Amino acid sequence: MTSEWWRTATIYQIYPRSFADANGDGMGDLAGITAHLADLQELGIDAIWLSPFYTSPQRDAGYDVADYCDVDPLFGTLADFDAMLAEAHARGIRVIVDLVPNHSSDEHEWFQAALAAAPGSAERARYLFRDGRGPAGDEPPNNWESVFGGPAWTRIAEADGTPGQWYLHLFDSSQPDFDWTNEEVREEFRRILRFWLDRGVDGFRVDVAHGMIKADGLPDYTPPAEGGSMGGAGGVAGDAGDAAGVALEPEISDEGDGAPYWGQDGVHEIYRDWRTLLDEYAGERILAAEAWVDPLPRVAKWVRPDEMHQAFNFAYLETPWNAAALRTVVDASLEAFGAVGAPSTWVLSNHDVVRHATRLALTEANPQGHGLGARSKGLPEYAAGVRRARAATAFMLALPGSSYLYQGEELGLPEVIDLPDEARQDPTWFRTDRERYGRDGCRVPLPWNADAANYGFGETGTPWLPQPELWGTLARDAQRGDPDSTLELYRAALRLRREHALGAGRLEWTELDGVDDPSVLAFRNGDVLVVANTGSDAVALPAGELLLASGPLDAGALPGDTTAWIAA
Ligand code: GLC
Repeated sequence: MTSEWWRTATIYQIYPRSFADANGDGMGDLAGITAHLADLQELGIDAIWLSPFYTSPQRDAGYDVADYCDVDPLFGTLADFDAMLAEAHARGIRVIVDLVPNHSSDEHEWFQAALAAAPGSAERARYLFRDGRGPAGDEPPNNWESVFGGPAWTRIAEADGTPGQWYLHLFDSSQPDFDWTNEEVREEFRRILRFWLDRGVDGFRVDVAHGMIKADGLPDYTPPAEGGSMGGAGGVAGDAGDAAGVALEPEISDEGDGAPYWGQDGVHEIYRDWRTLLDEYAGERILAAEAWVDPLPRVAKWVRPDEMHQAFNFAYLETPWNAAALRTVVDASLEAFGAVGAPSTWVLSNHDVVRHATRLALTEANPQGHGLGARSKGLPEYAAGVRRARAATAFMLALPGSSYLYQGEELGLPEVIDLPDEARQDPTWFRTDRERYGRDGCRVPLPWNADAANYGFGETGTPWLPQPELWGTLARDAQRGDPDSTLELYRAALRLRREHALGAGRLEWTELDGVDDPSVLAFRNGDVLVVANTGSDAVALPAGELLLASGPLDAGALPGDTTAWIAA
């Protein structure tokens, strides 16, 4: 296998709950993944990243881990994991698993032991327990808010039943934060890393990699603007406001700079330690950071040469479909990551954000993490949304570096807006009294076969979130072989990306002769010229062999919301 594969890899995110259900209980599972690896090989990706499948009460869809070294029965067994891993490797697909080190589930045996033990005990010291404020200790130790809404502290009853200490949870109350200043916690995570590395995984996506260390004394903090991001927005400050194609409201551009729980310098020491551990293993195992900090040079700290290999580029994800904004964020990304010798990553969708087939065509801003539903405004028609999404993906897949895809985007799936209230499961929905819809709309189980029960997600059982009728036309088998389909666009783009070594290339912006339209963006990467038209008027394309177009051309001209690749 090639060296430094991660610098150019296309990595496909699998959300196991919603990928494929082999045992027919309505919930996706590991055997379902194994059964569809051939489809992913056919798509042309290099690696998969699996969201958590570990033992968990599923209060945050598995990001609340009760046992880091086992598989939840919902998803199968460790033997199913090994079978999946072997099959993926046999097909040349690397496997990255999710590591959730900021917090455990409240059902983790350590947290249960902490509840049973006394204040000041070694058991409590693995988490962040504190006495409350006020004479009776009945006010939280500080004013921090949970990312999912409501206070970030919950009070427990001591073993004798009296009201007791409080514990910190930056997310749901079922997700107590570990105390990473405690060496016992560090040692436990080294053990967990080794457990999966010994099984043969190719790396880890590290959840909330900006949150593990909190400022000394846990000082009060009030964010500068309304919250609701997934823990601090990226974003290139000032570029997303009222530009055409509102994406997300970058409601906080500097939260990461001041918040005493995000991006504290102490986190980096942890990753240096992990990097040393990973480097003991053959086969280039990697670490990828989910670090929602801002601006990009700050994100780049996570990928300094002795730390992680990759960090998600959320600034790119949050950029609207606007030529000037895209150019700014691409330059800023290449510069910031390049300065530390790391590749840039690119990403448009994941399990926490509104799918880009909807998001990039919203006409009103919607705060990140709030999701969409009946009360949302500015929703696009499906056709307009997917057209723009295809253009955005064709632009992204031509950029040098590594790209992340989220399951279902290759089918052009939009956000599901009309989920019934009773079906919603995101803790955000409950913790905000049903004000923020949360992330269920991007997590609806995938359609595989237009005519099968549950669109082929699983033969029997009721999918854990209801699938819309649109899934019938967007099912994988309905798109396979149709050259105009989104699936075939992705396949062609990934094949050409590989053939022209675009991931390892160099980007050079260029002007097109005779085109003076600020909505048009063009760059060369090696022998490919990429032209993206983010506006609405068609523009003439230069001569040359058309390698790829995200939508039909208009008598040889490039219409709005379309991207073309031309042999240069
Ligand atoms: C990350 C995950 C998200 C989860 C949160 C808490 O942001 O991507 O899904 O809810 O962390 O673990």
